[in-house]
Amino acid sequence: MENSLFTKPKEVFLDVVNAKDYIQLDSVSTIYQSLKDSVKKPLKMILLYGLPGTGKSMLLQKLYQDLSKHQKVIIYHTPLVDEKEFLRSLARDIYDYHTDTEINFTRFNELSNHYNFDIVPLVLLDEAQLYSSSLMEKIRLLSDSRKIKFVITLHKTEKEDIIAKEHFQTRIWESIELKNSSHAELKIYIQKKLMKANCFDIANMFDDKNSKLIHSITSGNYRYTNKLLFSLFHILHWYEEHQPSKINYQHVSNKIIEMAAIESGFIHA
Ligand SMILES: Nc1ncnc2c1ncn2[C@@H]1O[C@H](COP(=O)(O)OP(=O)(O)OP(=O)(O)O)[C@@H](O)[C@H]1O
Ligand SMILES: [Mg+2]
Repeated sequence: MENSLFTKPKEVFLDVVNAKDYIQLDSVSTIYQSLKDSVKKPLKMILLYGLPGTGKSMLLQKLYQDLSKHQKVIIYHTPLVDEKEFLRSLARDIYDYHTDTEINFTRFNELSNHYNFDIVPLVLLDEAQLYSSSLMEKIRLLSDSRKIKFVITLHKTEKEDIIAKEHFQTRIWESIELKNSSHAELKIYIQKKLMKANCFDIANMFDDKNSKLIHSITSGNYRYTNKLLFSLFHILHWYEEHQPSKINYQHVSNKIIEMAAIESGFIHA
């Protein structure tokens, strides 16, 4: 149905990372500001960690969008796990150096000596838990040389192990943790997301009781919340087509939220 009231809200909660969809929430803004401050400091490496779905990729993407207007910034969403491939990509993306031959670490260092930037080039590495420790060691050495600054994101579960590793022992790095949302902020997240897509009436359908229930189902995790709300609007869409008289357009009932939780596998019926 083309003109369904719930098509757009459903799309709002697709699990995609796009800086234009970034929502400002107090806790996230504070973290984003400290991330931006850290990037300006003479720190060697910045570590962004947190549970899956807490917004690490989103924040990294936002940082990329904001900083790339003023300085050299590279972002790798998916890890280039092959070391020579990684170095060749860095040479290409930072120094605009194109080659078909292999670039090993020594060669890369020679190359980087030929270039000077007013602001140290920034490289943003998402999903850094997937890099080998040998490659992480090279990344650490490059950071130490202060020729490149890295911001890396890690799944929280890997954090303990990774920090114990040698390449993180220099301590001249900053670590920033992203957390699940509080109940109050989750309500703001849901409403702001809908309002950003001009779904004002739909945003007003949610009250505190709804957001409390949503928070208890998703633990305030943004990815889980997306999944739950996508199901919710999917169900409302179905009612709109088949039993429109059953829809309350003023208010979302917790019963429908529970149905959505069952449909998306959070609750077992
Ligand atoms: N500040 C935000 N504004 C808008 N949407 C957000 C924000 N933070 C997170 N999201 C939403 O939550 C979803 C999950 O966030 P994201 O993919 O960044 O998590 P992650 O921490 O990178 O997870 P993983 O560890 O699995 O990679 C995103 O698809 C996005 O829709
Ligand atoms: Mg991610």
